[in-house]
Amino acid sequence: MPCNLNHLELSEAVAAGVASAGGVALPFNTISVSDNQSQGTPGMRASLISRELIADSIELMDVAHDFDALVCIVGCDKTTPAALMALARIDKPAVVLYSGPMRAGSWRGEQATIQDVWEAVGAYGQGRITRGELDDLERTACPGPGTCAGHFTANTMAVALECLGLTRLGTTLLAADALEERREEAARCGALAASLAADGRSARDFLDRRGLLNAMVGIAASGGSTNGFLHLLAIAREAEVELTLADLADRCDVTPVLASLTPGGRYVATDFHAAGGVPVLIRELIAARLVDGDAPTIEAGTLAEASAGAPAPDGRVTFSAAAPYKATSGLVGLVGNLAPRGAVAKVAGTQRRRHVGPARVFEREEACIAAIDAGDVIPGEVVVVRNEGPAGGPGMREMLSVTAALVGAGLGESVTLVTDGRFSGATRGLMVGHVTPEAVRGGPLAVVRDGDMVTVDADTRELSVECSEAELAERLAAYVPPPPRVAHGVLGRYSRLVGAASDGATLRD
Ligand code: FES
Repeated sequence: MPCNLNHLELSEAVAAGVASAGGVALPFNTISVSDNQSQGTPGMRASLISRELIADSIELMDVAHDFDALVCIVGCDKTTPAALMALARIDKPAVVLYSGPMRAGSWRGEQATIQDVWEAVGAYGQGRITRGELDDLERTACPGPGTCAGHFTANTMAVALECLGLTRLGTTLLAADALEERREEAARCGALAASLAADGRSARDFLDRRGLLNAMVGIAASGGSTNGFLHLLAIAREAEVELTLADLADRCDVTPVLASLTPGGRYVATDFHAAGGVPVLIRELIAARLVDGDAPTIEAGTLAEASAGAPAPDGRVTFSAAAPYKATSGLVGLVGNLAPRGAVAKVAGTQRRRHVGPARVFEREEACIAAIDAGDVIPGEVVVVRNEGPAGGPGMREMLSVTAALVGAGLGESVTLVTDGRFSGATRGLMVGHVTPEAVRGGPLAVVRDGDMVTVDADTRELSVECSEAELAERLAAYVPPPPRVAHGVLGRYSRLVGAASDGATLRD
């Protein structure tokens, strides 16, 4: 897939770098799932599950071969968190090499990304654009190799990587097709890993509470994806670090947005790189005392030292903490009688922060998309899509097709989605996911009915349904979960063993 197209070449350069430092490289692969192929289909169930399999495969290769150090080449939504989860378990010297974003395409004189394609699918479903226009956009929006061009989940995790210090600062968002520079960087990482093998810091020196909170601040300040919550909680669990959804949400509450990146802003990852990239944000966030600058980086020295030479914010793509792009982050932790163990709201590309409306309940994503396409969802409704959580889906599908269909149908500013599934980083609007406990595990989402009044409030951090405690308890007592959608194989096993989204949706030991 586009986000992995340069990986084999990069691995050859890493191996050359290892050799130049006197080491011997032993390259091996893992799987990777393309969210853009699986989005909106049953295949999306495989996406989050693949994170566990990738982490397991890296760990197992190390168990078998006892490497001295590792270089993990990552690029796509799951490979970055999976590599970090594996490194948290292995706890050896390691460098993570991000393979770089795609450049934006161009359509009708404007930058275009995969997000535009998904929203155009919704617009086509509503008859607002022609099939020919949709095809034209599809052919131009993804013009080359690299991770999805906007600040979606993959590039969100690249920002997290730099904040964690496990990669060389300023390198992640160089375009994937800048092959010469990318090869040089890969060789540097190989040599660095070989030099760390003898006496370098090990992965858990970076994947500690300080590092993970720094990463959350970086994610929030860049206007990143809600998947950041899920992945940081999963990494914390693997690193045996105490960290809760509330801890992460608290950091988001005090973090301003310092970059104008799509979907919450205007520019794409390669624009961000040209403006100085992640170190610009890190330096601003350290000065604002939101990031701990004493945290280590892989090249020795601290985050503060490594980001000291970053350019000043340009006021266009990057902004200072004193004059931010937005005063508050678009990532909000919610709690209430509809999500006793928490939920995550994303407020991106919209001014709306509160919605009170009647519930419109769907038992799966496809039913919701069909209703939107049929013009059967009306302004003011709170669309509830349940049985899409980690266990219920199984696999906690991303609801990009739903949110893009809402935007495409002109309902992005008047309808809110609440789900126990999750969102793509390309989602925009006021959307609530990760509702915990999920429906099939007896969460109150399971017993919401059409017409129940639901409140989503990003300012008071509330997700609730207008229903008395006694009535909710009565409904829950009568609730019988649906039979598992998949009982066998990897999906069935995951469905039985997966933990809650508020714990990172990792497999329980
Ligand atoms: Fe791989 Fe978007 S599908 S980064």
